[in-house]
Amino acid sequence: MADQAENLRNLMGSKRKISPATRKNTRIIAISSGKGGAGKTSLVVNLAIALSQKGKKVMIMDADLGMANVDIMLGLVPRYTLYDVLEGKKSLGEVIITGYDGINVIPGCSGIFEMENVPLLQKQSLVKELESCAREMDFILIDTGAGISNIVLGFIAAADDVLIVITPEPTSITDGYAIIKILSKFKLSRKVYLVINMATSMQEALDSAHKIETVAGRYLDIEIIRLGVINFDNTVKKAIKEMTPFIFKYPRSQVSRDIIQIADNIAENKFGFSENHSNFARKLINLLR
Ligand SMILES: Nc1ncnc2c1ncn2[C@@H]1O[C@H](COP(=O)(O)OP(=O)(O)O)[C@@H](O)[C@H]1O
Ligand SMILES: [Mg+2]
Repeated sequence: MADQAENLRNLMGSKRKISPATRKNTRIIAISSGKGGAGKTSLVVNLAIALSQKGKKVMIMDADLGMANVDIMLGLVPRYTLYDVLEGKKSLGEVIITGYDGINVIPGCSGIFEMENVPLLQKQSLVKELESCAREMDFILIDTGAGISNIVLGFIAAADDVLIVITPEPTSITDGYAIIKILSKFKLSRKVYLVINMATSMQEALDSAHKIETVAGRYLDIEIIRLGVINFDNTVKKAIKEMTPFIFKYPRSQVSRDIIQIADNIAENKFGFSENHSNFARKLINLLR
């Protein structure tokens, strides 16, 4: 774990020159949670559409290599996935598909997948293509999957900002804290954005945030920024069954209004999201090496 953290930190602190042409103000946000089922994918998909509706160019990268399902929530049937790129069979351009409101999606691949088995050349060409893609985007949202595997931490370290999703369930709070603790202890992030999902009341959401903030304030050196609250709403399940994002089909539902609020917070940079601090592609190639 310590070695891994060291590698990730090196990757974060790599002082390579960033050519000005490499990035515009693309903001790369990793969305993670300690535990599965917290609502990461629902958030990523609907937030991407909300940002796109505000005129932003958005790309989703489905990096949940265990349970990739961004495409399903968007009602898309991708012909190719990230897997085909890593296998060297397709270019990223051939894999990216367009969803609601013009969002771009790099579909993920589920199943047994060993990053180590991917030839370096493939990884390098993926990173190169990602780099040119990133140049076109305002936001890249990465659905990292749950937990604290190497790959999840690697994506978090490569991104500019990390957004942790928790629910008010005690286990979700504990697991959310666990991931924040790792980010802090190994100095992978200086701040995290917190979203409380499936709240049944504002008080419940505030209590959940307060619990994490109190423990983190006492034991960790990391800033926790409340980015927003998403209420529990049966519209989410209904929309998933209909394979249509709720923000598209039920724009006036409570949960859509909650997402729009979060999109406003991000787009207007109300809480000081990092801009242009990292070189995602470079860090990613270090990660994939
Ligand atoms: N705000 C919400 N209200 C009600 N149900 C929700 C909400 N957010 C997510 N869910 C439900 O939780 C389940 C897991 O959501 P998902 O986005 O797939 O989580 P993750 O990607 O973190 O595993 C889904 O079945 C979804 O319907
Ligand atoms: Mg998911």
